[in-house]
Amino acid sequence: MKIAVIGIGAVGSVIAREMMMLPHDTTLFGRSRKEGFTIQEDGESRHYPYTIEDINAYEGDAFDVIFIATKATALKAISRLIPRMAHDDTEVILCENGMGFDEYFAAPIPAVVYISGQKHADRVEHFQDARLLIEDRPLPYTDRIIDDLEATTGVELEIEKAADFGRIRHEKLLINLGINSLTALSNNTAKIFDLENVTDLTRRLLGEGLDIINREREIIDPSFIDKALSIYQSYNREMGTSMYYDVMAEASTEYMYIQKYFQQHKGDLDTPVLDIIVTLLDAYQYER
Ligand SMILES: NC(=O)c1ccc[n+]([C@@H]2O[C@H](COP(=O)([O-])OP(=O)(O)OC[C@H]3O[C@@H](n4cnc5c(N)ncnc54)[C@H](OP(=O)(O)O)[C@@H]3O)[C@@H](O)[C@H]2O)c1
Repeated sequence: MKIAVIGIGAVGSVIAREMMMLPHDTTLFGRSRKEGFTIQEDGESRHYPYTIEDINAYEGDAFDVIFIATKATALKAISRLIPRMAHDDTEVILCENGMGFDEYFAAPIPAVVYISGQKHADRVEHFQDARLLIEDRPLPYTDRIIDDLEATTGVELEIEKAADFGRIRHEKLLINLGINSLTALSNNTAKIFDLENVTDLTRRLLGEGLDIINREREIIDPSFIDKALSIYQSYNREMGTSMYYDVMAEASTEYMYIQKYFQQHKGDLDTPVLDIIVTLLDAYQYER
């Protein structure tokens, strides 16, 4: 089986390392050719000497499974490269946070990603977790990978099929709406949830997000808001979020696929907190 991993950053390097342990032909891709990557875990760094190929220069055979682990902002451009890397039955697994990009692909398999890490200039710091949740439907190639991951010793990554994937994906989207917005716009880490007024504002934002998700039918139980707030409280106080790290690096954010996605689906709902947050993120992104 031929496997590709595109985007060897915080999430992709963990997936790449694990795929390299399986008895398949795995190729790694980045924006340019590079020799190897380093993952730091529990204070220890280890170098993996696998070549990362330039995705734009690929002219080889089609892959059976392609994991895409770039930021969501890169997906539209990458989707244009996929037809020459894929055959009719290729399974393309999207490992991005957010929603609204599935339609760029012919037959996407979105994943909810539980791999927590941060890319530094010289290494990826892997904090915790190595798990992908996907929809529960037959996927001939990915099913083989799932079996191989289970049967191979020393492998950390789990790919699980979730019967209620639609709810889980929306819950992750709502979790990201709350913590990404507040950490990015305050330029501060999860410690902000010590503050009662931050928690109150986040609760209002989550309430608006929940109403948008449940606009046509109940997907998420309203009690999930309390759960989300307690999840934020449980995070390491110094932990940032993807959007927080992007803002600190003055980089583009994935807000089009999180906050703006909610706003685009709000219909006639009144969402004052969300609207202010999207306006500030629009302003952050302006001419950047
Ligand atoms: N990090 C986390 O803890 C975490 C947790 C859950 C979900 N997620 C989600 O996972 C996704 C990936 O996030 P991440 O944190 O892994 O990002 P990341 O560390 O920035 O890694 C993205 C990688 O993709 C590469 N890339 C960018 N454009 C590309 C292109 N056109 N072709 C090939 N490679 C390209 C980047 O290379 P360059 O460095 O050259 O740009 C980088 O190595 C995001 O949607 C994020 O929200 C992240």
